[in-house]
Amino acid sequence: MSRDWHAWHAEYDDPESSLSRRLDVVRAQLTSTLADTTEPVRLLSLCAGDGRDTLPVLASTPARVTAVLVELDPELADTARASAHARGLRDVEVRTADAGTTSSCADAVPADVLMACGIFGNVTDADVARTVATLPSLLAPGAHVIWTRGCRVPQDPTEVVGDPSQAVRDHFADAGFEEVAFVRPDDASYRVGVHRWPRPGLPFRSGVRMFSFV
Ligand SMILES: C[S@@+](CC[C@H](N)C(=O)[O-])C[C@H]1O[C@@H](n2cnc3c(N)ncnc32)[C@H](O)[C@@H]1O
Repeated sequence: MSRDWHAWHAEYDDPESSLSRRLDVVRAQLTSTLADTTEPVRLLSLCAGDGRDTLPVLASTPARVTAVLVELDPELADTARASAHARGLRDVEVRTADAGTTSSCADAVPADVLMACGIFGNVTDADVARTVATLPSLLAPGAHVIWTRGCRVPQDPTEVVGDPSQAVRDHFADAGFEEVAFVRPDDASYRVGVHRWPRPGLPFRSGVRMFSFV
């Protein structure tokens, strides 16, 4: 495990923190995405943590959603499972697995909504490019990807000059995605993007390495 992800989640305890503000934005984007997506919806969350950006939204949306959350840390995965259970979400599966390989996504694709939050600031620039290029093989036509990227996060592995979220947007554009939303507050370092895949999905291949946390 690359970092203490339990300590990282503790920043959510402060409702004024940048991470809590980011959480509000991600939930709002997920809520509006689900409102615009044809049911039934398949959702896939990579590096899902304790699922707090997704599960409360699923509990309140009128949309019929089947979700798979992939999280490597067993305790965080257990917390996500317990959270789904407590909210009465029966169509949620939490996989304790490596989300960096497409093998962990088998039977959960093609997804209509893919969450990639808290990933791109923890992997190399090459892995960001590889991941975005691989996403169309995990997506249904018209699917949405909700992603985040901190600007100059601590121990940032990027070699990009300037705001690294711009490189992420460029990768999405190069891969053929359409930008639906991009949130860049003036007074905080988080960025949240939503991109739509407008074409038929590409064939799914198991065993493709997208990223590894540094
Ligand atoms: C920055 S946190 C983001 C959590 C959640 N997506 C959020 O935004 O609240 C990164 C998460 O990725 C998990 N993680 C790290 N490497 C992983 C991997 N290879 N596969 C699945 N999860 C991983 C960590 O345990 C941690 O929960």
